[in-house]
Amino acid sequence: MMRPHVVVNCAMTADGKIASIARRQVRISSPEDMERVKELRTGSDAILVGVGTVLADDPHLTVRSLSPDKNPLRIVLDSQGRTPNNAKVLTGGVPTLIATAANCVKTWRGAQVLRCGEGQVDLQCLMVELERRGIERLMVEGGGETICSFFKNGLVDEYRVFVGSLVLGGVDAPTPCEGQGFLEKNAIRLRLLTVTQLGEGALLCYEVVRDAAQPA
Ligand SMILES: NC(=O)c1ccc[n+]([C@@H]2O[C@H](COP(=O)([O-])OP(=O)(O)OC[C@H]3O[C@@H](n4cnc5c(N)ncnc54)[C@H](OP(=O)(O)O)[C@@H]3O)[C@@H](O)[C@H]2O)c1
Repeated sequence: MMRPHVVVNCAMTADGKIASIARRQVRISSPEDMERVKELRTGSDAILVGVGTVLADDPHLTVRSLSPDKNPLRIVLDSQGRTPNNAKVLTGGVPTLIATAANCVKTWRGAQVLRCGEGQVDLQCLMVELERRGIERLMVEGGGETICSFFKNGLVDEYRVFVGSLVLGGVDAPTPCEGQGFLEKNAIRLRLLTVTQLGEGALLCYEVVRDAAQPA
């Protein structure tokens, strides 16, 4: 299947958490890393998050230095239409696509809706639609459940994680890959490409190693 190139990007603490037990956004990235994320967004055709991140962090998902028409498409995975009407991801004149399950009837002012999948959004179906729209580079920003789904569906090409110099702890604090996890034999294998110090933290860039057991 032809599909966009998928880069997963997130920031975690030195103990592997992407937020605190309050499940609210925490500043983990260094200023240097924030600059890198801005460049990665700028070079992407679309930026995707799950509705859990919209509800927790209410992100704009924009690059402010770019005019609205030059910004990447914003995409939210939201099976049952839980994105609030006043979510920031619907503002700023930048296009937004909300992907819902087929049976969701909700609509939003300021967003297109793509209905695909029973129960949860079908990522393979979404990829076909993004390919059709000419999206070549998709950046997946989280959260953990969304990232896990992309791994599970064999849809990740690159995984970039910034490791910030703080510890949040907490057994219930989210990590980069949530969901049900994988048994060892099904672990996602990565090849480490680069390690870069960015201020008070380190950026690890990996590519996903594909084998016959993993769908392309
Ligand atoms: N540090 C970082 O880099 C970073 C980045 C982003 C977020 N975060 C943190 O991550 C946390 C939120 O993560 P989260 O795991 O709770 O939520 P999430 O991944 O943002 O969203 C998950 C939700 O997306 C919906 N969804 C629809 N289709 C899906 C599919 N095919 N696969 C997976 N999800 C699908 C599901 O809700 P429905 O079933 O209702 O559709 C699911 O509950 C927050 O604490 C936030 O602060 C951290």
